[in-house]
Amino acid sequence: MHAHKKSQKIDKIVPEAADFLPLLGTDHVELYVGNAKQAAYYYQTAWGFRPIAYAGLETGLKDRVSYVLEQGKIRLVLTAPLQPDGAINAHINAHGDGVKAIALWVEDATKSYEETIRRGAVSYLSPTKREDEHGAVILSGIHTYGETVHIFVERTAYDGVFLPGYVAWDKPYHAASTGLLHIDHMVGNVGWNEMHKWCDFYANVMGFAQLVSFDDQDISTEYTALMSKVMSNGNGRIKFPINEPAEGRKKSQIEEYIEFYNGAGVQHIALATHDIIATVRALQERGVAFLKIPASYYKTVLDRVGTIDESITALQELGILVDKDEEGYLLQIFTQPVLDRPTMFFEIIQRKGAQSFGKGNFKALFEAIERAQAERGTL
Ligand code: FE2
Repeated sequence: MHAHKKSQKIDKIVPEAADFLPLLGTDHVELYVGNAKQAAYYYQTAWGFRPIAYAGLETGLKDRVSYVLEQGKIRLVLTAPLQPDGAINAHINAHGDGVKAIALWVEDATKSYEETIRRGAVSYLSPTKREDEHGAVILSGIHTYGETVHIFVERTAYDGVFLPGYVAWDKPYHAASTGLLHIDHMVGNVGWNEMHKWCDFYANVMGFAQLVSFDDQDISTEYTALMSKVMSNGNGRIKFPINEPAEGRKKSQIEEYIEFYNGAGVQHIALATHDIIATVRALQERGVAFLKIPASYYKTVLDRVGTIDESITALQELGILVDKDEEGYLLQIFTQPVLDRPTMFFEIIQRKGAQSFGKGNFKALFEAIERAQAERGTL
């Protein structure tokens, strides 16, 4: 175990996180999907997102359609192609549905672009001004792992519903919120021996620093192993754990992801809630499927984490996991993959002091994932 186990308070542990790329938060996450209308219905009905904005044929687009959904501070953009060929089709053909863009909210998209390009980022979109009657935004973008990109969004001079080109989208039917608040972290899976390269990218190009580290001894089961490092920006609002597969007796879940996604990409998006029992109960009632945790987990979990506020019976009924660190504890649960390919999934997380990521749960979690892999014949 080479990880430093001192305080994980971000402002203490990331003194070296640089200031050349101040990030205000996650602006939005854009998925390229085969059928945006139906995906939008899924995220509204099952997850309780609200319809916010739309762009498509009716707004003058010829080649694509996008639906924007919101819950708390989480904004999802679902984009599908309307024509054959083109970049969106190629992305879907290679990867299936998945995250294309992690858009970051900045005060200066031009400076963000110049500072990261100067440090070695590959350009995706040079600074571009987009305007409509509600004002102007500046967008720029760089490549990260796989075909995933970061878009820098500067919206100080804009008061429209989302971005120029989008119109307000509302419908008479609104599913109730499930209590999701904001993105806690977003995890990238990268290929064999690529974790350090991408951690270096976040450190050197984007000024992030490493939060917690663990080695494959910490996260392995009989069959599978991975290595993971967590990169955070200076104010701790943006946290990107990076996973790579490690040698195990059988194919790891990271390898399965890389195989089906055809390369590196976003593995999971962790969404925060203040009441994980209510959130997960609502999601399960609406048909969202989670990983099943064995009853044996709940026999010993309190020995490991100590006293908690929640009823262990309720946690066991829903399959919610508990972990602790020096600063408190956290509750978390993982969905099954939400796409046809066994690629992206969601995590629901409630932090009660703990600033870590549930390392103590990895073994229980991996074993649950392996049971699902065995059912798919991909272990
Ligand atoms: Fe996570």
